[in-house]
Amino acid sequence: MKVLITGCCGFIGYNLCLKLLKKKNIRIYGIDNLNSYYDINLKKKRLSILKTSKNFTFNKIDISKYNNLKKFFKKNKYDIVINLAAQAGVRYSIKNPSNYFESNVIGFFNVLELSRIFKIKHFIFASTSSVYGNSNKFPLKEEQKTEKPLSFYAASKKTNEILAYSYSNIYKLPCTGLRFFTVYGPYGRPDMALYLFTKAIFNSKKVNLFNNGNHVRDYTYIDDVVNSVEKIITKKPDGAVPYSIYNVASSRPKKLKEFLKNIEKTIGKRAKINYLDMQQGDVYKTHGSTNKLINKIKYRPKMKLSEGIKRFVEWYKKYHNI
Ligand SMILES: NC(=O)c1ccc[n+]([C@@H]2O[C@H](COP(=O)([O-])OP(=O)(O)OC[C@H]3O[C@@H](n4cnc5c(N)ncnc54)[C@H](O)[C@@H]3O)[C@@H](O)[C@H]2O)c1
Repeated sequence: MKVLITGCCGFIGYNLCLKLLKKKNIRIYGIDNLNSYYDINLKKKRLSILKTSKNFTFNKIDISKYNNLKKFFKKNKYDIVINLAAQAGVRYSIKNPSNYFESNVIGFFNVLELSRIFKIKHFIFASTSSVYGNSNKFPLKEEQKTEKPLSFYAASKKTNEILAYSYSNIYKLPCTGLRFFTVYGPYGRPDMALYLFTKAIFNSKKVNLFNNGNHVRDYTYIDDVVNSVEKIITKKPDGAVPYSIYNVASSRPKKLKEFLKNIEKTIGKRAKINYLDMQQGDVYKTHGSTNKLINKIKYRPKMKLSEGIKRFVEWYKKYHNI
């Protein structure tokens, strides 16, 4: 089976490639533009690990460049396409909406359109819990309304869901969208809370605690995410509109300040805290229902937060020679 994964040098992409490369009969074709949104050395490190596998091939391609991407689609007959490449992050989208339009709307369209032209068997793509906006019904279920994104990032991801739905309807392209909920773990993103908090604590710097730590997130461990994606690959949607959307969450929400306490305990050092107001574009709470996902793939995300944080901190210390 030939699997094309975009964003393979990113946090989720890298971990997914690693997982799939353990299987026999899978060849991974990874693409990434290696942009400098965060430390490029971390992306290069992930890539160097992936390149040690003989079943992995890398191409540096920007998905927003249609012609280059088309040449790449022509090279091989891919069975599955998993689109993870995107400009991520809610806060960065406030000042840089055009980056999101380029990668998440134009880039996404290019991958979707080429998946149609080259008759890909199953197109899987990353969406986000941010599409729910500020809901007051928890746990968040896939059928809930999602027409009020609070940030341009969320809007760009909602756009993906809508575009993919229309391709499933018109062209019968089997599409599965995955709404990831705050993914964390080793090789995680330096712009996300776990990495930022851990770094600040080790460097005795102040931790920026937005909304005074009162917002709630459904922290989902990376292994639970990649195990879910792996199982979804074979669960191609069918029917008149072969389209499905799933929450990929742990369904165990925690307050941000409790999350921070857990990190402090793991490291064995108190954080210096800079209490801040709610950040524009952020939602107050995420808590996803995982019933639909569990019913489909018979897998329940299982990592305990304290153990997940411990694994991250161990990785962080090793990676930074602490
Ligand atoms: N990590 C999370 O908590 C989370 C939550 C919800 C959704 N998501 C989504 O999951 C996907 C993966 O997220 P991640 O956390 O691994 O982010 P990431 O930033 O680590 O990975 C994204 C990768 O895509 C690449 N990329 C960006 N724009 C590109 C382009 N135009 N062409 C080619 N490559 C490009 C980047 O260089 C990066 O390596 C994204 O679509 C993100 O929006 C992530």
